[in-house]
Amino acid sequence: MRDLLNKIKTDAEQHLGAIVSEEELEKFRVELLGKKGALTQVLRGMGALSAEERPKIGQLANEIRASIENKIAQKKEALAKAALERKLESEKIDVTAPGVPVSVGKRHPIDQIEETLCDIFRSMGFEIAEGPEVEYDTYNFQKLNIPENHPARDTQDTFYISDAILLRSQTSPVQVRVMEKQRPPIRIISPGRVYRSDAVDATHSPVFHQLEGLVVDKGITMSDLKGMLAAFAKQMFGENTKIRFRPHHFPFTEPSAEVDVSCFVCGGKGCRVCKNEGWIEILGSGMVHPNVLRGCDIDPNIYSGFAFGMGIERIVMIKYAIDDMRLLYENDLRFLEQF
Ligand code: DAH
Repeated sequence: MRDLLNKIKTDAEQHLGAIVSEEELEKFRVELLGKKGALTQVLRGMGALSAEERPKIGQLANEIRASIENKIAQKKEALAKAALERKLESEKIDVTAPGVPVSVGKRHPIDQIEETLCDIFRSMGFEIAEGPEVEYDTYNFQKLNIPENHPARDTQDTFYISDAILLRSQTSPVQVRVMEKQRPPIRIISPGRVYRSDAVDATHSPVFHQLEGLVVDKGITMSDLKGMLAAFAKQMFGENTKIRFRPHHFPFTEPSAEVDVSCFVCGGKGCRVCKNEGWIEILGSGMVHPNVLRGCDIDPNIYSGFAFGMGIERIVMIKYAIDDMRLLYENDLRFLEQF
């Protein structure tokens, strides 16, 4: 019996070393020390011992039991500590770790430039006016001094809804809509979509965007137009930007001019962006034609005004040196994410 007890002790000690979880440990404890446990079974057999042996074996059994209980308690503590450490380790937060990037959408480059343009003109006191994209022929052409059969219509062939209604080919009709409703002083810009029945290529699209400007008041001259555009060009393309007026013809302005900016990449020396010209065309402009003023019941003997119109895609392409307009409409994120 003594041998059996000692074997239980050494077996138990060995077994304990291999235990890795608290559940396993509890199972082991019950199997050894529980009511039906191995040690308990041995003690039950003590009745068969001699009166002399019984207390000695009893003492040994108690010592062994106490020793095993003690070791189980120690093991329990060690396992609990290890479990806590594992938990702490797994829940550790590295406050210095870089954050997880959140992907945020942004505005299309056309929208971004439109907003920049509006900001610049707003800072000069312009208000934003809007007009319909589905427009009357009279507003898109006739009231802008472009009568039926005028050759100027050819370059702006558009989509007709009916003989009298079309998709506007320019933002200029907003000039007329504002002048019919509002008395001078007038100082508006009007950004928006326009349509032309052009085939798609690197510089044409049947849908694109323009920004129109109009100022009407007493004593407005071409030098006001020039000074305002010079200030605009500096804000849009950089402090050193110069502007150049080239005579041109638009039916609704007289005189008319196309306006170029000095190339902001090469400063005028000639490069890829300005196609070696040193200058880049950005808009059309002029003094509002007396016929247009008169048609809106504004007396050209009292009032005068200037107007200008630019293609927003064109400005985007110049600003970012984009050589194919189609890139702006394909919605390829690899392209759009660059802006
Ligand atoms: N509407 C013209 C176009 O689409 C651009 C333009 C030229 C607008 C001269 C103007 C202007 O207001 O004065 O080509």
